[in-house]
Amino acid sequence: MSGTTDCCQDCLHYMFDYETPKTLVIPSIRVGFMFRFTQLLVVLYVVGYVCVVQKAYQETDSVISSVTTKVKGFAFTNTSDMDPRLWDVADYVIPPQGAQSFFVLTNMVITPKQTQSRCPELPSPSTTCVDDCDCIEGHNDPRGSGIQTGLCVNYSSTAQTCEVLSWCPLEIDTKLPEHALLAAAENFTVLIKNSITYPKFKFHRRNIMPHINSSYLKMCEFNHATDPDCPIFRLKHIVSGAGEEFQDIAVKGGIIGITIDWSCDLDWWAGKCYPMYSFRRLDDKHPVRNVAPGYNFRFTKYFKTPNGEETRTLIKAYGIRFDVIVFGTAGKFSIVPTVVNLGAGLSFLSLVPIVCDWFMLTCTRKRDLYSRHKITYLSDNADTESMSMGTTYGTH
Ligand SMILES: *[C@@H]1O[C@H](CO)[C@@H](O)[C@H](O)[C@H]1NC(C)=O
Repeated sequence: MSGTTDCCQDCLHYMFDYETPKTLVIPSIRVGFMFRFTQLLVVLYVVGYVCVVQKAYQETDSVISSVTTKVKGFAFTNTSDMDPRLWDVADYVIPPQGAQSFFVLTNMVITPKQTQSRCPELPSPSTTCVDDCDCIEGHNDPRGSGIQTGLCVNYSSTAQTCEVLSWCPLEIDTKLPEHALLAAAENFTVLIKNSITYPKFKFHRRNIMPHINSSYLKMCEFNHATDPDCPIFRLKHIVSGAGEEFQDIAVKGGIIGITIDWSCDLDWWAGKCYPMYSFRRLDDKHPVRNVAPGYNFRFTKYFKTPNGEETRTLIKAYGIRFDVIVFGTAGKFSIVPTVVNLGAGLSFLSLVPIVCDWFMLTCTRKRDLYSRHKITYLSDNADTESMSMGTTYGTH
């Protein structure tokens, strides 16, 4: 019977004993200073870093955008292997749609009047031959120029190569001009039209700002310092902004990125949202051992001669591809991230007493006194005393 009453008393103790922490006041300037200093650090972190730098009171959204481009300019060429010729946009911008990524032709190897016929392969260790036995009829080498006919013919007075069925005469692409054929391309201009939306905030804007009128647009040219709002760029300026020399990159081609940064703060007290342009080269300027440098591709134009024969002009095009890359995030005040981030920041305040306790118990002169009062070890004996306090207190 007595066992069950003991048990009930224990239960009552657990349920109705009131517990309260004891406050220990440390009259030490150093500990007090430490306490306020760590509190100040936490508040500075919350205000300075979380609120001002990170803007953690804002909700964010990322940009979606559309880009169109329009290049303008003319070039005139008068070289030995081509008739004098004027080049306009339709000639040198490929493809002509004016997309986010556009290519401006600057240099080329032209092989005119090709027809479907037979001609000797270009000399290389695998194509030179002594007699017909060295050539296999129907042999199709992907790295060659066509399908072999099985004959060994004179390529020049000194070399013999296998004959191929192909578009002849074959292209000799080692004849690339050392100076870019369309050097004048450096003075071409491009108009970049960019519309952006932050769907979460229903915010729309274009890079042609409301204060730009059409007469300004007709004559302006982008410049970081003097005309940062003008959406018309001189190609030479873009390339030099990427740290390159236009006439160098124009010879073998390359890829230049035009980045538009639309990072916006849409709160009314900040109200900052305009495009920031920057330029950088995206391909490798100095490939290892100069293997496969630059950027090139081939395209053709087809013709019919009066007697019905099909001929084509093959162009190996070298040039600069400009990629317009739009990025950015917008932020706007919202109550949910504010509460969450403020709470997370201020929860560091609960670390302050831990830091101060550690400081008080290890770094002060009176640390022994403090620790005697701070930490009390209760022996088993003392434990029973406190349990039955009031009746048997102080029996020994
Ligand atoms: C580009 O224009 C400038 C000034 O208008 C001129 O001095 C330069 O020769 C031009 N570049 C080419 C390659 O024509």
